[in-house]
Amino acid sequence: MGVAVVTGASTGIGKATAIRLAREPGAELVLVARREELLRELAGSLPCRATYVAVDLTDEDAPERVRAHLEAEHGGTLHLLVNNAGAAWRASFAEGGSANVRRHMELNFDAVVRLTEALLPLLRKAAPSAIVNVASTAGRVSRARTGAYSASKFALIGWSDSLYAEEKPGGVHVGLVMPGFVRTEGFPATELREKAVTRWIVSKPEKVAEAIYECGPGGRAERYVPRPYALAAISRILFPSLTRRVLTGGAASNLTTSTGSE
Ligand SMILES: NC(=O)c1ccc[n+]([C@@H]2O[C@H](COP(=O)([O-])OP(=O)(O)OC[C@H]3O[C@@H](n4cnc5c(N)ncnc54)[C@H](OP(=O)(O)O)[C@@H]3O)[C@@H](O)[C@H]2O)c1
Repeated sequence: MGVAVVTGASTGIGKATAIRLAREPGAELVLVARREELLRELAGSLPCRATYVAVDLTDEDAPERVRAHLEAEHGGTLHLLVNNAGAAWRASFAEGGSANVRRHMELNFDAVVRLTEALLPLLRKAAPSAIVNVASTAGRVSRARTGAYSASKFALIGWSDSLYAEEKPGGVHVGLVMPGFVRTEGFPATELREKAVTRWIVSKPEKVAEAIYECGPGGRAERYVPRPYALAAISRILFPSLTRRVLTGGAASNLTTSTGSE
């Protein structure tokens, strides 16, 4: 473990990932998100060197700011980029329209692509190194009112698979992590936690953080968290009619939870 950039490190899965990576010998972290106070507090509490960049990743100059920070503070070295920052705003297409699709794509896809473009030369120079993209099981299976979010995560998964093949020969590993329901600030899963029958399907950020670590340099190509969520993806391919029936039935409305961004 050397220098790692973790985006979306102020809360949830990103924060848990920073705490997990900080345990590794030789770890040096760069925490990225908008809320400076939270980043400063986390950086000060970690048992390794940690700096931060408070930036909105959808800003035009965000990738250059992170790269300049790495050059100034970490000798231009980067061994691991964790693209984790993301959000969801639930709406049907009739309600949210193309503006909601654009908002999701800007943060969950375009910002990831632009940051990766700016940092790939550093990762190549430091190879063996890795990029871990945090997508979602919603990037394999889409539900009502999650179309814009799912579109951004489907895009991220498709692009990640291609990048995996392109960068493998040069030693930049590309890992893909696809969480299911995980209780965080942005995805509180309140509706699921309120009912005994669905409470058990909600996981913890620490479990995703472990999977992100496993998908780092020299690690796994992909992980669902928790693992049984892979069955949703398998079922979408092997049993499309059955999957559609389940996802349009009465019980399916319970599976579209409200989010922190709304
Ligand atoms: N929790 C789940 O159920 C679940 C399931 C599948 C996938 N995921 C994915 O996991 C990732 C992390 O989500 P989470 O559950 O940990 O949610 P979270 O607690 O809301 O964390 C989101 C992080 O992204 C940062 N962020 C949001 N907009 C940003 C922007 N414009 N610029 C920079 N940083 C921004 C937030 O920090 P600031 O507000 O300080 O900027 C925060 O640190 C996301 O990509 C999400 O899609 C989550």
